[in-house]
Amino acid sequence: MTRPPRTLVTAALPYANGDLHLGHLAGAYLPADIYVRTLRLLGRDVLFICGTDEYGVPITKTAEALGVPYKEFVDRNHASIRGSFVALGIAFDNFSQTSRPIHAETSRAFFLDLHGRGLLKQKTTDQFFCATCARFLADRYVEGTCPRCGKPGARGDQCEKCGTALNQVELVEPRCATCGHSPETRATRHWFLPLGDWQPRLQAWLAGKTHWKENVLNYCRGWFEQGLDDRAVTRDLPWGVPVPLPDHDGKVLYVWFDAPIGYISATREWAAEQGAPEAWRTWWQGADTRLIHFIGKDNIVFHAIMFPAMLMAHSEPYVLPENVPANEFLNLEGNKLSTSRGYAVWLPDYLAKFPADALRYALARNLPEARDTDFSWEGFQARNNNELGNNFGNLINRVFAFAHKYFDGRVPSWSESAMTQVDRAAIGEVAACLDRFTECVQTFDFKDAVEAMFQAGKAGNRYFDESAPFRTRKDDPVRCAQSLGVAFQIVRLLTLMLAPVTPFAAAKVWAWLGMESDLFRGGCVEGKRPLPAGRPVGKAEILFPRIEDEQIAPEVQRLRELGAG
Ligand code: 2FM
Ligand code: ZN
Repeated sequence: MTRPPRTLVTAALPYANGDLHLGHLAGAYLPADIYVRTLRLLGRDVLFICGTDEYGVPITKTAEALGVPYKEFVDRNHASIRGSFVALGIAFDNFSQTSRPIHAETSRAFFLDLHGRGLLKQKTTDQFFCATCARFLADRYVEGTCPRCGKPGARGDQCEKCGTALNQVELVEPRCATCGHSPETRATRHWFLPLGDWQPRLQAWLAGKTHWKENVLNYCRGWFEQGLDDRAVTRDLPWGVPVPLPDHDGKVLYVWFDAPIGYISATREWAAEQGAPEAWRTWWQGADTRLIHFIGKDNIVFHAIMFPAMLMAHSEPYVLPENVPANEFLNLEGNKLSTSRGYAVWLPDYLAKFPADALRYALARNLPEARDTDFSWEGFQARNNNELGNNFGNLINRVFAFAHKYFDGRVPSWSESAMTQVDRAAIGEVAACLDRFTECVQTFDFKDAVEAMFQAGKAGNRYFDESAPFRTRKDDPVRCAQSLGVAFQIVRLLTLMLAPVTPFAAAKVWAWLGMESDLFRGGCVEGKRPLPAGRPVGKAEILFPRIEDEQIAPEVQRLRELGAG
């Protein structure tokens, strides 16, 4: 038997610039976590890597505006983001930070590998320099009027009004975003990765990726049609990984060069913590590693083009991504999210009021896999009450409650040999749903996976209603015990599907079923074995509390007041 390959899963490193919202969760972290948890359930070798992306102008600008030192600012946000991920059950093997020394060391070495082999080119370009602030104004440190749409407030890298990507020296009436003075133009030298040189290799490599999502391939085709340009890999900024060359004072690696290397440094950090510092190489350079990047669509070019080119350019044999299952965007109550206007649902706010499983399930049911989707509080409430509660919770509760009421809190006397056709059909249907669930997750069709799980819950309820142990209890106690025993087997299989999606509830059911193994590490082995008659089972509590109208009304109201942007 060939050993299944090991899978290295990354989720986009979130900027340590503030809290995350529902859109981030739906875009990358939830699908990544469901994927990883499913592979772990199947006993696969998988490593799940993430961390905060702690450089770049939005971070330095916000920290400066708050008067907080950069490192203190990113550490604070890192802690808060980490807290939300823990509360939501996003189970990374390592959640690192790009401001840590291991990342500086890894990205400097990466830069030097490319530089030393002549694969980076230096160019002198004009940049704005603010004499008052005594510094170059990278990206958003300069603002002005957009040369395309004529609107004021365009930033040095992009006009938010018309969406055009800008070269800052094109701005009309440029001003320093910090002090408001008009900047002067000065020549500065920077290093570039000539992506055009890599285009033929990238295109040939991507031609083999016919199994990738259509939205991702379309973005890549668009980039290739335009022709790939030189990409700057350094910046004039006070915060970042210093360029590891003499005469480069005040220059740092561009955040989009160092951030993806953050996946490698976070893996190195993980390996060191395991006491096997070289183990990271197996994951990044072992021929049978499948590398999967979960991201939102705004990151496609970096993960499907830029980072693969960097990996190809490196002298060591890095693996290239096997897939980049990028998601589209999540809208909110019919409008686009806007963090600047506060039109978003922040994870700490959500978590202070509602359970993690409810959000995981509602989002998983409605992920923006192929097109943008919409989150509404009413839809969320309906998913929780009608599906989690009335479908899954109801079945599980009925089965455990019945066992406690009439069978001394044990799996009743049942056997496979005594199964009727109806029993077999019900278990068969749920087992088929489980197969469908794991297959769909592995092809990144998460919504279809959750639909299979939903159908399994329905089949279980149908079986319970039709075999009606509450009726056979008096006239046919043998049949009553048998059908409750079969219902327990259905709950056992259902728990395997709940595990990746609603891990907190699944862990409880697993414990009530008296399982011994770790559900989240190879749980499928024990979960596929019949539960023996006579096994004592726990008492079920409410798994998915109802969400009342009064709980969601203030949330809807807040968003309504902010209105469409
Ligand atoms: O868009 C973002 O939030 C970036 N911080 C993602 C970086 S992903 C990777 F390259 F690190
Ligand atoms: Zn200034």
